[in-house]
Amino acid sequence: MKILETIANVHAHSRGRSGRSILVPTMGALHRGHVELVRAAREHAGADGEVAVSIFVNPLQFEPGSDLEKYPRPETRDEEACRNAGVNLLFRPAANEMYAVDRSVVVDETTLSQTMEGASRPGHFRGVCTVVAKLFNLLAPDAAVFGEKDYQQLAIVRRMVRDLDFPIEIIGVPTVREADGLALSSRNQYLSATERTDATVLSRALRDAKERVKAGETSTTKLISLATKTITREQSARIDYISIVDGETLEPLEVARSNARMLLAVFIGDTRLIDNISLT
Ligand code: PAF
Repeated sequence: MKILETIANVHAHSRGRSGRSILVPTMGALHRGHVELVRAAREHAGADGEVAVSIFVNPLQFEPGSDLEKYPRPETRDEEACRNAGVNLLFRPAANEMYAVDRSVVVDETTLSQTMEGASRPGHFRGVCTVVAKLFNLLAPDAAVFGEKDYQQLAIVRRMVRDLDFPIEIIGVPTVREADGLALSSRNQYLSATERTDATVLSRALRDAKERVKAGETSTTKLISLATKTITREQSARIDYISIVDGETLEPLEVARSNARMLLAVFIGDTRLIDNISLT
């Protein structure tokens, strides 16, 4: 596995490359969910293609007062995980390598990013789009893989690629879950033992909503109210938002029709977790 840490070296690598390359952008603290993204990348790259992983804890997407400082950075373990997963190229730049001190250009998505995560975390998606656009320019992949766990992010990256004409295919990969339903996330490690148990309420509420839609319920007001009741029963849970939206436009729906998706963000103690499910 080749490891690159500077922009000059990654540019030189991308210019000299022949064959297909698939990028998996990450912030590290790699878990089974990331391994699944790498597996999907390999499938698209082929045995001779390149699977590239970037690890960069992007300061631009952390709002002031959030967990940027405490975000886990297990460098050696991540490197090992990449080797074991068969990654060909690991790009792990330092923050001062990625951003000039007087940087003044950003990438701003102006519609899909206004609700849910965007409303709760102002500037978050500006940070995500800016860094993803930079990674696309640096690594020039044929395709890039993103998890459906960050569903709004996936929709926004697709929109950015469409609107800015990046010649890059975006591949969405289903969320990987623990046996009890909890979606894998680097932030799960912040949970205490009791909070870890309480955290299963996110996936339970989502699965329950899906079951109700299957049984004929279409009122999104009713579905959201039932999920609210389920979640607030857990002592450590505090809802940030529960939304039912169209899976592509992210517009709120009154009726759970085809392509309806429920997305939620819930604090379990001090840890903010997100999850989502297709309702149809
Ligand atoms: O999903 C993430 O880990 C990050 O938002 C991403 C896409 C790597 C950009 O920093």
